[in-house]
Amino acid sequence: CPSNLLAGKRILVTAGPTIEAIDPVRGITNFSSGKMGYAIAQAAIEMGADVTLISGPTALTAPRHCTTIQVTSAQQMHDAVMAEVRGQDVFIAVAAVADYRPREVQSQKIKKHADTLQLELVRNPDILAAVSNLPDRPFCVGFAAESDQLLEHARKKRLQKNVPLLAANLVSEAMGGDDSRIVLIDDHGEHPLPSGSKTLLAHMLLQHMAGMLPPSTTS
Ligand code: C5P
Repeated sequence: CPSNLLAGKRILVTAGPTIEAIDPVRGITNFSSGKMGYAIAQAAIEMGADVTLISGPTALTAPRHCTTIQVTSAQQMHDAVMAEVRGQDVFIAVAAVADYRPREVQSQKIKKHADTLQLELVRNPDILAAVSNLPDRPFCVGFAAESDQLLEHARKKRLQKNVPLLAANLVSEAMGGDDSRIVLIDDHGEHPLPSGSKTLLAHMLLQHMAGMLPPSTTS
């Protein structure tokens, strides 16, 4: 899709999982490969955007021609996003952020003694909600990965998170692989994209999004 639809736009993307440390050798994470977020960053670069990618730990190579910031935890991802968000035209939250982290990180490896072990978890910041509530917010795009009742949950999530565009996919169809199936949800309703590679879907999503952006005032 060799277009210049996003020329002059500054786009911030989060991708991958976060890891919430329990002790020096263990953590809590989500099963995210990072492929969808990296595909979106790559497609946005090809469409002429100036892209900053904030990524949790993945096995992927950072795209060329973009600024990539590597983070581990949700708090670090939040802080990196907040440090970069000023002046961005678009924020696309693709990362599978851990919703909770252990209340305390043990400085020494936890030894196995008892038959059960309890961890107390506390909520992590919601990065997308934080950005979409900024007074001078960029155009925000959210993702919803659901295991069931996809559209119902996704519609609700778009309103709760206060984002104009949300990409919904089923965990069973999206996680880990090179292909996915996505339904875009905006004020006009639902727009199912054909199933295909994450690369193709990234281009289609960005094309749809480009039509929703306010006209450039600068470039
Ligand atoms: O609430 P839920 O995790 O299902 O929402 C998914 C959307 O919110 C994704 O776009 C994800 O990147 C974003 N999110 C976030 N920070 C969180 C949790 C989710 O940015 N702590």
